[in-house]
Amino acid sequence: MSPGRGRLVAGNWKMHGSLASNRDLLARLCVSLNANQGAEFAVCPPFPYLAQVSAALTGSGITWGAQTLCENDHGAFTGEVSGAMLRDFGCRYVIVGHSERRQLYSESDALVGAKFLAAQRSGLLPILCVGETLGQREQGETEAVVARQLDAVVALAGVSALESAVLAYEPVWAIGTGKTASPAQAQAVHAFLRGKVARMDSGIADALVLLYGGSVKPANAVELFSQPDIDGGLIGGASLVADDFIAICKAAMRNS
Ligand code: PGA
Repeated sequence: MSPGRGRLVAGNWKMHGSLASNRDLLARLCVSLNANQGAEFAVCPPFPYLAQVSAALTGSGITWGAQTLCENDHGAFTGEVSGAMLRDFGCRYVIVGHSERRQLYSESDALVGAKFLAAQRSGLLPILCVGETLGQREQGETEAVVARQLDAVVALAGVSALESAVLAYEPVWAIGTGKTASPAQAQAVHAFLRGKVARMDSGIADALVLLYGGSVKPANAVELFSQPDIDGGLIGGASLVADDFIAICKAAMRNS
């Protein structure tokens, strides 16, 4: 990790948790993590638990966010949640373009771009996810895929929008599968993404926080986070297990 850039470890709880299990997990995180450890830590629970998370984490130094948002600001959009609503519950971040949203809910690059803009309109920091499938990697298309996903957002929002955003490389074949990209594989894509942004604006590229996601565990976090272009992680399964998430957060601190 670069000494000048921020570091972030964010937990993506996906559709997991309950009031009771969240209470235990949040209490453990509050005891072990705070913001003054050379890295920032965040959790992204399902919408119904945002009030619980906000009550538990206010004043802890740990921040929180949501897993998606509506591309519209308000109106007749049954079932949707706006950025302003997320801000009402103290969210700092919102994940956009997660591969599960792209694949299972048919979110196109254009829709991801619209959600990215909606997040920034509301004062949220989007965590924009990009990543290739196994088939695309095997066809040698990794760079083309992540470039297309990033370009779709930059075309809409402009490169300067990346000053108020986080980028997460999440190879689809590594998410929830136990197969992690090797540190070298992840670093290569991170360097490609940073280089691509640098050709548009080198200052923005230097400051851009680039997370790796996909089966990050305590056993591989230190090596992943020690790569020069990996500034932290977006953590799924392991973010639900207090000991594992805390260990991964500490791996980000160790490299501070
Ligand atoms: P995983 O999920 O850590 O369980 O692989 C990562 C993610 O989907 O953000």
